Amino acid sequence: MTDQISSQFSDILDARLVVVTGKGGTGRTTVAAALALASAARGQRTIVCEVAGQARVPALFDRAPARSGAEEQLDERLWTTTIDANVALEEWLGRQVPRRLVHLLARSGAFSAFAGAAPGVRELVTITKAWELGEARRWRSDARRYDTVILDAPASGHGLGLLRTPKTFADIARIGPIAAQARAVEEGLADPARSAVVAVTLPGELPVSETLELDGWLRERVGRGLDAIVVNGVWPQRLSKDEAARVVAAAGASLPHAAGRAAASSAGRVTTQRRQLGRLRSAATAPVRQLPFVFTPRLSLPDVSALAQHLSRS
Ligand SMILES: Nc1ncnc2c1ncn2[C@@H]1O[C@H](COP(=O)(O)OP(=O)(O)O)[C@@H](O)[C@H]1O
Ligand SMILES: [Mg+2]
Repeated sequence: MTDQISSQFSDILDARLVVVTGKGGTGRTTVAAALALASAARGQRTIVCEVAGQARVPALFDRAPARSGAEEQLDERLWTTTIDANVALEEWLGRQVPRRLVHLLARSGAFSAFAGAAPGVRELVTITKAWELGEARRWRSDARRYDTVILDAPASGHGLGLLRTPKTFADIARIGPIAAQARAVEEGLADPARSAVVAVTLPGELPVSETLELDGWLRERVGRGLDAIVVNGVWPQRLSKDEAARVVAAAGASLPHAAGRAAASSAGRVTTQRRQLGRLRSAATAPVRQLPFVFTPRLSLPDVSALAQHLSRS
């Protein structure tokens, strides 16, 4: 059973688009980066995409954020980008209308006006752009496709909108280039062989309930459930001496006293976490993988690489 679950988990990296969703602060960006490292390590040309002006992945590699919309190489088979709806829309339309017109529209601010006009346009352009990164024929003729696109989606509510919006637009537009493009993305998102949806959560009562709800919502609205659930920040059964020392240091209080308090509170926390993990595992249909809490003030690249190994270990 365990083996079957592990192999199912690694299957998500066979998908061309992996959407990482979940509540803010659960570790979406960290898990997206870890999945991207695991994918690149498997020999796949991989890009990890952030949205909404976020650029935390380059920082992990001690790089300055790239220009919005630019694809920046971080490692041998690893790239990063921040999807900018205006830039993406300009590229997309660049395929449909003459170049001169595109420049004119871009200069006049028409793209941002259009992207801001109808609800869902920004989401449509964002998910379409993520899909396009894996397309053999890219919008820009000098661009090469990626084998694996990892999308660090916005926090749950918006992330779901992102998955839902191609269908909405395809239904509204019905015919023409927008409908055709939206339909292609909709089909890709509904196909578990080509796309995967991963939820990141924490081992607490509320986050576990929300993750189970998310799975139901996806089935109802997008026609597919979650492909994997990552429970992040799981405390070890017992703290090692080193970890205990770091907890004590973090508490910053007098040693014997703080050590006792930390041990007591960690024991209670571990029990609660195990209970919630058990609840999730018995209710979820998707494979559940847990990631340890890393006792450090700030996650470094080696920390994220270690998390990547947890995810790809079978
Ligand atoms: N397993 C972990 N152990 C320790 N810290 C973590 C872990 N995962 C994430 N973090 C830290 O928690 C914070 C939130 O993580 P992040 O990936 O940015 O979450 P999100 O993208 O969901 O908002 C960051 O400071 C990150 O370094
Ligand atoms: Mg994030």
